[in-house]
Amino acid sequence: MKSQIAAANWKMNLTLQQGETLLDEILAQPYQLNHNRLVVFAVPAPYLAMAQQKVAGKSHVFIAAQNCYSKKSGAYTGEISVEMLQSLGIKWVVLGHSERREYFQESDQFLAEKVNIVLEYNMTPIFCCGEPLQVREAGTQNNFVAKQLEASLYHLSAEQLQKVVIAYEPIWAIGTGKTATSEQAQEMHAHIRAELANKYGADVAKNVSILYGGSVKAANAAEIFGQPDVDGGLVGGASLIAKEFSTIINGLK
Ligand code: G3P
Repeated sequence: MKSQIAAANWKMNLTLQQGETLLDEILAQPYQLNHNRLVVFAVPAPYLAMAQQKVAGKSHVFIAAQNCYSKKSGAYTGEISVEMLQSLGIKWVVLGHSERREYFQESDQFLAEKVNIVLEYNMTPIFCCGEPLQVREAGTQNNFVAKQLEASLYHLSAEQLQKVVIAYEPIWAIGTGKTATSEQAQEMHAHIRAELANKYGADVAKNVSILYGGSVKAANAAEIFGQPDVDGGLVGGASLIAKEFSTIINGLK
């Protein structure tokens, strides 16, 4: 079943103390959440245990890892395994963020393997896709994103695909303050849903949550989230400010 999701991506920011304070401030506010209206915080790995403790007992609020390795354990110094995440009670993992694709050369195939192991451990992958500026300027963004979906997700069964949350993040909007217009976001989200419908059928496609990411702010969240095929957002900078992210959560449909 599709959910509306306000997801925070703290990236590599905040001290432990700042993270604790931020979560306390955000979680102190009342929100209209339910099994179709969720909040997720993707926090740095060292803070996963703290954050998980902060949301314990809070319905419809979850903690996500920002990445994990493609193997369940072994000689991979510095990496984080799904078994480690499972032992912490973490059930969500962001995968394929453009910053990981760029700075750590994560390939489509590597991401497919990560999606597989996250699903194997009954966790929810938030799979990121999105085009760079030059692709958008060339007008080939639809084909670019379709290829990302095909390369990392289309090996999945229909049942598995429905467990994946997709986050469309145009790279040219990430951290730039240059947000995609609501029309641009809706156009790409509708394209993604059409691609999924073409591969898996309309009934499956309509059940997949597709989040928008890229300079979502308190001021623009409700308009973007109000688009028919936008099911919430994956928020970077604005999620580090309690008042901003609380407003963004309340902008969910
Ligand atoms: O994963 C979300 C992030 O890439 C968006 O960043 O700062 O543009 O909201 P920001």
